[in-house]
Amino acid sequence: MSRLDSFIRRLEAQRLVLDWAASSLRDVEGIVLELGLGNGRTYDHLREKLPGRDIHVFEKNPSPNPKSMPPVDRLVIGDMAQTLPAFAARHPAEAALIHADVTTGVPERDAVLFAWLPEQIVALARPNALVVSGWALAHPVLSGVPLPDGVPDGRYFAYRAKPAA
Ligand SMILES: C[S@@+](CC[C@H](N)C(=O)[O-])C[C@H]1O[C@@H](n2cnc3c(N)ncnc32)[C@H](O)[C@@H]1O
Repeated sequence: MSRLDSFIRRLEAQRLVLDWAASSLRDVEGIVLELGLGNGRTYDHLREKLPGRDIHVFEKNPSPNPKSMPPVDRLVIGDMAQTLPAFAARHPAEAALIHADVTTGVPERDAVLFAWLPEQIVALARPNALVVSGWALAHPVLSGVPLPDGVPDGRYFAYRAKPAA
């Protein structure tokens, strides 16, 4: 498969997963976290699907399409290795949905480069929170859940945080 085909499939999978995740949030309280602003496409999609929801965006180098710049008080600038623990200290276990899109495009590299990320995600997730990610996250608190129809295997990953004890 060409890289163009692969990119298109990734975006299609992202849209399916984000639509599914957003619809599962109806009647569920909690903030939403977008990890990786990039061009702002998925942030823009989430805010369209979740009007009124408090969406916090994390990015070390924010330069999105200007139409997709988050409000200044919802954009956390810096390396997530530092900004996520600081945010979690202020907002422990408050997130109902976390979308991790910090891929380098090379899953093997991501697993090493972002080895610290699952622990941070778990600190931010409410009980039963939904976590969706472009690469597989391994953590005992996160259980894999089936993705919506149409998302090819290995293209995206979804997890539920453990329910409250
Ligand atoms: C794949 S892009 C996100 C694409 C975005 N979701 C979109 O739809 O346009 C990944 C982003 O994560 C950011 N990023 C990567 N590692 C990071 C880190 N350790 N801390 C903060 N941001 C990081 C990159 O700067 C990049 O903008």
